[in-house]
Amino acid sequence: MHIAVLAGDGIGQEIMVEALRVLDALGLPDLRLDHADVGGVAYKNHGHPLPPETLELVMAADAVLFGAVGDPECDDLERHLRPEQAVLGLRKEMQTFANLRPAKAFAGLENLSALKPDIAGAINLLIFRELTGDIYFGEKGQRTTDAGLREGYDIMAYDEEEISRIAHIAFNAAQGRRKKLCSVDKANVLQTSVLWRAVVNEVAADYPDVELSHMYVDNAAMQLVRNPGQFDVMLTGNIFGDILSDQASMCVGSIGLLASASLGTGTRGLYEPIHGSAPDIAGQGIANPSAMILSAAMMLRHSFDMEEKASQIERAVADVLQQGILGHDLGGRASTCEIGDAVVARLAS
Ligand code: NAI
Ligand code: MG
Repeated sequence: MHIAVLAGDGIGQEIMVEALRVLDALGLPDLRLDHADVGGVAYKNHGHPLPPETLELVMAADAVLFGAVGDPECDDLERHLRPEQAVLGLRKEMQTFANLRPAKAFAGLENLSALKPDIAGAINLLIFRELTGDIYFGEKGQRTTDAGLREGYDIMAYDEEEISRIAHIAFNAAQGRRKKLCSVDKANVLQTSVLWRAVVNEVAADYPDVELSHMYVDNAAMQLVRNPGQFDVMLTGNIFGDILSDQASMCVGSIGLLASASLGTGTRGLYEPIHGSAPDIAGQGIANPSAMILSAAMMLRHSFDMEEKASQIERAVADVLQQGILGHDLGGRASTCEIGDAVVARLAS
């Protein structure tokens, strides 16, 4: 098991320590961890947020564990040198076009969700966010209009192959769950969405046992708050998925709880929490490492076919939350390290 460990900036460094302790506690055979710089740290040390040596390690590894990037000291750099470009670059280079973001209620947290307890308690959904296309990767720039006004533009584009390949993965996942798939778009306004909907309908023919529905993204945002329990698998594009998954995290309780896996066609994947580098709390030892730890569990499941070990970690995190060992993001007092300690202790018992 060869894992590239890219902790990144801000709380990325702090939460990664805990995820690695959890992996260590599992006593995995042949575990090889290679660390490399990414993001602001990489810019400071190598002059680029995604230096060639980091990319080389990533492409040689079986999986990538990624913390977070986004160093505010880099805010004034040119766009291609900003830490966030490393995330986009990694996803593109690894061709990890399918981003899985599970959001499931944790027992004991119902009262901490932004939603009413019975509504929050019913959450058990899996978002598939397309990751290598859409408005994030289209032509973009700023120009001056004929009227002399400054204008910014970003082109949103999807081709049918980009849509169908993630649709197949999402339908497959739905077959192993409650067999419901809701595709989210804005087909009343956007041509990319008209195509998205048509291709998803075509792919659906291969999965007659999955109940397919379509929803406009503005309605989906509303429904996620009104009745998130109605969703099983949600399939959507890059920008809609970005926004809806942050929203889903608060329905569960905290952004510090949601993990993600980014997958392509092979078994190599990129595993990271859905949150960023949280510069407002970095260095204080109060970040919640759960999302990072759960991302390591997703890595064991998807890249190494270790379902049992993955579930063990997930149960340990859930048990720790149920015991009331809560981080600051959930109104508790447990430090990053104390949460890591509790998960490791739980695994040992
Ligand atoms: P953020 O996700 O870093 O933080 C949002 C809020 O949630 C902050 O108040 C933060 O303290 C809190 N938070 C996030 N993770 C937490 C955790 N594990 N435990 C406790 N509290 C937590 O988003 P923000 O502030 O918009 O962005 C900060 C930087 O991160 C920016 O430079 C942004 O571009 C970058 N970013 C990087 C991502 C990545 O590395 N994949 C993803 C999202 C943002
Ligand atoms: Mg985001």
